[in-house]
Order: sequence, then structure tokens, then C-alpha cells
Amino acid sequence: MHMRTATAAVALLLAFALPVAADGSGDSTAVSTRDGEYIDKAGNPTFKIDKDGTVDWYTSVGYIRYTANCMQCHGPDGLGSSFAPSLVDALRTLVYSQFVDTVTNGKTNVSASQDLVMPAFGVNPNVMCYLDAIFVYLRARSDGALERGPPPKNAPKPAGYSAAENACMG
Ligand code: HEC
Repeated sequence: MHMRTATAAVALLLAFALPVAADGSGDSTAVSTRDGEYIDKAGNPTFKIDKDGTVDWYTSVGYIRYTANCMQCHGPDGLGSSFAPSLVDALRTLVYSQFVDTVTNGKTNVSASQDLVMPAFGVNPNVMCYLDAIFVYLRARSDGALERGPPPKNAPKPAGYSAAENACMG
């Protein structure tokens, strides 16, 4: 085998063997489920992505909801734009509760040279009913577990998801 090919093969093997990365919310490895949502050992929502690229239901919903409600400011795939910071970067340090607080209540950075306003989404069911889904999608992006663009495949909808969604949307 050519030397460079061998090195690449080893790097690829290592990438699959390494545990899922830690981020602001800690180790993102899924250890349990709650209503079909994956949970890490600290009790925070997390993603689960199979080796063939199949993402859990919440992550796939998160991609759709992020794209509909957040992308116009935070850019495609969470990478940031001139209007708002990268959430791929932000989630490396933000914990889950800070994420929930910021999206619910908004944030205004008036001390910056430009006025940056993060709107409060607390009364918007299109965001609030999908907060965990948006979080786990961005968490997967931030951890480097998910490529740019729509997830290639998703796991089936968990039992009870539609009922909970309908109850939340009212
Ligand atoms: C109208 C533009 C706009 C939209 C839409 C928007 N944001 Fe923001 N967001 C911002 C701006 C601007 C900031 C930076 C505010 C600051 O620094 O004070 C921000 C900050 C944040 C932060 C905090 C980042 C940090 O490092 O503290 C999070 C988390 C966040 N947004 C999530 C979201 C999510 C999730 C959505 C979609 C549901 C969303 N935002 C939609 C403009 C927007």
C-alpha cells in the first residue's frame, strides 16, 4: 500500500474509534432516551449518529427547524453570518441551559460597535416546540459529528412524538 494511503486509512480508523467529542454541555455520548430523545450522562439532550450517517429523529427535525427559523441570521449549517455569530462555535462553550435561556429570552449586545440583537422566541411555538431538536442538531454540528447540509438519512419517528408535538403546537 502506498504510504500516504496507509496513513489516510489509519486516520480514518482512528476517527471512527474515538469517542464522541465533548462540548460546552460535556460528553455528548448518548446513554439513555427520554420520549425517543437521546440523553447524555449529564441529563442533557444529545444526538445519535450511526456509522452509516443515519441521524436520530430529533437531529433531523432540528436541521429543518434551524433552517426555517435561525439560518437567516446564523447562516447555513450554523456557521454564522455578518448578522449573527456561528452557533457551531458558540456551542463549544455554551451549556444547554444557556442555550435555552438565550433562545427563550433573547440577547442584546449593545456594547459592541454594531447593535446585535438575538430575538426572544419564548412565545413562538415553531421554535419553542423544537428547542431540543435545534439544540441537538447544533450540538452534532459543533462536535464535528455532522457534515454541512441536510442529514443523509434519519431514524424513524419515535413512538409518541407526534402526540407530544401536536400538544405543544396547540
Ligand atoms: C434576527 C436575527 C437572528 C435570528 C433569526 C436568530 N438569531 Fe440567534 N443571535 C442573533 C444575534 C445578533 C446574536 C448575538 C447577540 C449578542 O451577542 O448579544 C445571537 C445569539 C445567539 C445565541 C448566543 C450565542 C452566544 O455565543 O452566546 C444563541 C444560542 C442563538 N443566537 C441561537 C439562535 C437560534 C437557535 C435561533 C433560531 C431559533 C436564532 N438564534 C435565531 C441573531 C439572530
